[in-house]
Amino acid sequence: YGGIGPAAGRGPETEGGGGRPLTTIHVAASRAYDVAIEQGLLSRLGPMAAELLSGRRAAVISDDAVFPLYGALAERSLQDAGFQVEHFVFPHGEQQKNLNTYGQALNFLCDRRFTRSDLIVALGGGVVGDLAGFTAATYQRGVAYIQVPTTLLSMVDSSVGGKTAVDLDSGKNQAGCFYQPSLVLCDPALLASLPEAEYRAGCAEVIKTAVLFSPELFQKLTEAPVREQFESVIAACVGMKRDVVENDEFDRGQRALLNLGHTIGHAVEACSNFTILHGEGVAIGMAAITRAAVEKGICNPALLPQVLDILQKYGLPTEVPYPLADIQKAAEADKKRSGSVTNFVVPEALGQCRVEPVPAGEVAGWLKAGGIR
Ligand code: GLY
Repeated sequence: YGGIGPAAGRGPETEGGGGRPLTTIHVAASRAYDVAIEQGLLSRLGPMAAELLSGRRAAVISDDAVFPLYGALAERSLQDAGFQVEHFVFPHGEQQKNLNTYGQALNFLCDRRFTRSDLIVALGGGVVGDLAGFTAATYQRGVAYIQVPTTLLSMVDSSVGGKTAVDLDSGKNQAGCFYQPSLVLCDPALLASLPEAEYRAGCAEVIKTAVLFSPELFQKLTEAPVREQFESVIAACVGMKRDVVENDEFDRGQRALLNLGHTIGHAVEACSNFTILHGEGVAIGMAAITRAAVEKGICNPALLPQVLDILQKYGLPTEVPYPLADIQKAAEADKKRSGSVTNFVVPEALGQCRVEPVPAGEVAGWLKAGGIR
């Protein structure tokens, strides 16, 4: 971890014990929980779940890309710890994060008579985590769930902080709620099977965290690839996200900073019909908003080449591939608007960003300043 972390934040704690030390980051939100990070941790899912919960039935919610790889190990660990286990597996991809899949998941639990003392395990990336989390939040007004993220993006960002959601026809994450998990179990060994494009997309969120909060992390990312330092990079990002979530769990202030690159990024994703990955959209959005912030005189011009260089180094896109009118329309559906104002997160310097409320009439000007034509 080597001193990397939010300027005013706490680092992770490590526990000694029989085996290797377990890195845990405690999140003191409305429900307090640990994010545990360790190679091979998936095999300890069952005992860790049994320690936290009295119920002994678990529903593993996963997708058809992840479940064939890790479903058996997760289920065996739960069964060995005394859980009776069922699974709900849906087709992978952002397009499945919809009301239809959500309804099927709820009916699955209901048909099998799951109760409020039972457990949901979200085994997968951001789509699975968001959908399983929203299912857990709303089934019988809330059952406990454990996040087992299997992508870099979900390990460093979406599995922590309790945002749950599904997409509506008009936009991403339009139906959802805040509902914290009981545990986040992060096993970097699961990243060995991560497709290259998803690795790169996860790196975009890591770079985002560094631009937001930490020149030290930014430096570390330029010195060695994320894949050579998974555990320490994940711990650093989770530590910074924890600090934000503890200060603003319900996203009324500082948490909005985590949306750096997201307004334009979500619009790009929507225009691509979700063929562009979330992280790729965030990379494009970060590049565009940094360009705009420099153009508007808000951002230190030295940051733009640094941001473009690191994104390119990680094989990430930096240009918006859609016309301004399409991006503007998609951005208008974004829930990061409040009234007629769009809240762009803009960088001022490395490790320093702010929320800039932009009135409707000025959004096109910002997009143009970001290089969108
Ligand atoms: N991924 C942004 C947040 O958790 O607020």
